[in-house]
Amino acid sequence: MSARRNKTQITVIGCGYVGLTTASCLADLGHSVVGVDASLERLNLLEVGKAPFFEPGLDDLVNSGLNSGNLKFTKNLEHAVSESQFVFLCVPTPSLENGSADLSIIYSVSKEMKDALPSGSVVVIKSTVPVGTSSQVSDWISRPDVEVVSNPEFLQAGRAISAFQNPDRIVIGARTADAKERVSNLYTNLNSKILCTDPSSAELIKYASNTYLASRLTFVNTIAELCEKTQGDATTVLQGMGLDKRIGEAFLQPGPGWGGSCFPKDTQALIAVASEAGSDSAFLNAVLESNEDRFTQIAKVVTQSLGDDSGKKIAMLGLAFKAGTDDIRESPSLKIASLLLESGMKVVGYDPQVNMAPLQGLEMADSPEEAAKEADVLLVLTEWKGFLGLDLPKLYKSMTGNLFIDTRNVFDKKDLVDAGFSVWRAGEGWI
Ligand code: UGA
Repeated sequence: MSARRNKTQITVIGCGYVGLTTASCLADLGHSVVGVDASLERLNLLEVGKAPFFEPGLDDLVNSGLNSGNLKFTKNLEHAVSESQFVFLCVPTPSLENGSADLSIIYSVSKEMKDALPSGSVVVIKSTVPVGTSSQVSDWISRPDVEVVSNPEFLQAGRAISAFQNPDRIVIGARTADAKERVSNLYTNLNSKILCTDPSSAELIKYASNTYLASRLTFVNTIAELCEKTQGDATTVLQGMGLDKRIGEAFLQPGPGWGGSCFPKDTQALIAVASEAGSDSAFLNAVLESNEDRFTQIAKVVTQSLGDDSGKKIAMLGLAFKAGTDDIRESPSLKIASLLLESGMKVVGYDPQVNMAPLQGLEMADSPEEAAKEADVLLVLTEWKGFLGLDLPKLYKSMTGNLFIDTRNVFDKKDLVDAGFSVWRAGEGWI
């Protein structure tokens, strides 16, 4: 038997952000992994070692997997599955109109692979799915000799590889001790705390974690807004809170509101789960609403600072929903750009990773300097470290106005003031 045959054979279905990170990291752990995707365009890129989206370090990891022979890609789902001991489902679960998660891809993949699954194999659900999905997939597969396990992902865009390699915890929700042990063994080399539970609790841990983090940020931005209106300094207030070990210092950065492909979708999905279960969702609804209000507040900071709004030029630095990614899904930048465009402003955006205008009416610049030229306001919405290299006095001179609104507190306020700007910072207001 070849060395490859002795390795654990894993199929990862879906080579998006979660699937590709999972596949490359599992291959890096020494497993033999086949990534399956329906898109030929995506597979063509992957086969030459290129991730179809920007994630730091991922191209290198894909290449090293291809070179070692531990990582392969194919369109042929049935063939890949038929040779696997583990099949990871990493397909999208987007929002339906009522906010609940759309499981149609999980359903069609389950049906497509059910007869190809080897006896004794384990289906591992990594996609974020509502409580009860594991048992639903078991029903769809209808194979008593195949276990279905929930093993939610906790990757963070921009640091997905290190989140996989150094996880705070690995959650495995399975019905049998054997399946728990077999899935745990896949991660032995990660040396992480592994929490084994039932599938429903594992599914809820994922939603509860994301909605807790989103709620925490809504609280942070509520305190930030209060400080902006009362001359408090939210950075110090939040630091003071974070020093209490029960609160903790991470994830307390005020900003323009939260976005991305996970928090908004997962909060809505948990609300849908709660309402279906007859459970109260007033708190989560308020969290969502308050986050939308934050976008409006930031747009108002801009419009109110300009008086007569119409036709003024806003240079918007940062379009991705956070630094380290080219993902613009539910990005605060686009929400705020829409509000500014609606109020008659000219918005020119720049982002180091987003090249195409993602919104009608939004113009794109090739550099921050080009965006800022003759602008009335410079509005920073994504915390790209590269912005720190900007020549602030030169930027100031090239603008028509002198307003600098830093919703991520990327810049040192003294540097901005010294360059001549009138400055607004998240959690501080105008200084
Ligand atoms: C989030 C979770 O953090 C991951 O644990 C989870 O696995 C992932 O969703 C997912 O479900 O796949 P992600 O959406 O990549 O990860 O990004 P985060 O770093 O959590 O940021 C989410 C939003 O909160 C962004 O808009 C970010 O700018 C904002 N944020 C984050 C702040 O405004 N302040 C902070 O202190 C942290």
